[in-house]
Amino acid sequence: MGLYHGKVSIIGAGNVGATTALWLATRDVDEIVLLDIPETGDMPKGKALDLMEAGPIIRYDTVIKGTHDYEETTGSDVVVITAGMPRKPGMSREDLVGTNARIVRSVVEQVVPHAPEAILLIVTNPLDSMVYLAKKVSGFPRERVIGQAGVLDSARMRTFIAMEMGVSVDSVSAFVMGGHGDEMVPLPRYSTVGGIPITELLPPDRVEAIVERTRKGGGEIVQLLKTGSAFYAPGAAVASMVEAILSDKRVVLPASVYLEGEYGLHDICFGVPVVLGRAGVERILEIRLTEKEKEALQRSVALIRKTMSMLPV
Ligand code: NAI
Ligand code: 2OP
Repeated sequence: MGLYHGKVSIIGAGNVGATTALWLATRDVDEIVLLDIPETGDMPKGKALDLMEAGPIIRYDTVIKGTHDYEETTGSDVVVITAGMPRKPGMSREDLVGTNARIVRSVVEQVVPHAPEAILLIVTNPLDSMVYLAKKVSGFPRERVIGQAGVLDSARMRTFIAMEMGVSVDSVSAFVMGGHGDEMVPLPRYSTVGGIPITELLPPDRVEAIVERTRKGGGEIVQLLKTGSAFYAPGAAVASMVEAILSDKRVVLPASVYLEGEYGLHDICFGVPVVLGRAGVERILEIRLTEKEKEALQRSVALIRKTMSMLPV
């Protein structure tokens, strides 16, 4: 038995999927299933066994299985969906919509009969549109279809603030709302060092530079890697959300959820602050925004709606 009780299936055993499994194993989650398509041969089994063999060294007892068979996902508490193409240099996340929509639709259709009570944690890009698709295809209540983006984007902002100030990331809190595209909305007023807003600690041009670097944070890694996109920090972000769910922690974090009037938005999945626990999204927090921040949110909404118009729903 691990420390965190529950079964987590990860669909897509590529870079983000396997890294999420690693971060979850280091947290000693009971059981992980890594599933990929038959074309990948024994790769999921190989990664699962390799991860289990790290257990004696790192000291976790997590049972990890690799498979192509959805039967193995039966009864999962959380299903993480990372299946799909990552972007290459020159591509936007939105360019992935056609291919990844087909993949995410087929994954959700196969997951739902085996894990009808699971919480779906979507990672595949373009993120907010894929959460919307998963919500529509699964028919699950909105509490149980959640997108990971804001935890990663806020972590990037925290990193950049800590680097700028020369302080521990531990003292830094940051908050990024909106879609997981280059129009995401980092909020300096709600980003603090030791509880003090960074707008009080840094000159406006340095704050703006941090905001811009955060917006382009995913692209910065793509440009450096050349062969794909980020996976260490994304995997860590997903693992922290799974931990919040399995341990019913009620953590407040930004996540992409289906909105029904919050922030004046309807029928869209969008990154907003939520309370995350065993039931999934337990509450959406509505914070006050300035006119300028509202305009930035609207630009983010417009980008998501444009991508959503290409969805097969
Ligand atoms: P990857 O190429 O390393 O892994 C993707 C895996 O999905 C591959 O192993 C592939 O065989 C598998 N796959 C493809 N079709 C499948 C299907 N029908 N069923 C099951 N598995 C299938 O890519 P990586 O780097 O792991 O990224 C995965 C996705 O996550 C991409 O769309 C990427 O853009 C997105 N992403 C999202 C982030 C976020 O913050 N939301 C952060 C990082 C990546
Ligand atoms: C990122 O932000 C690719 O969406 C992913 O790194």
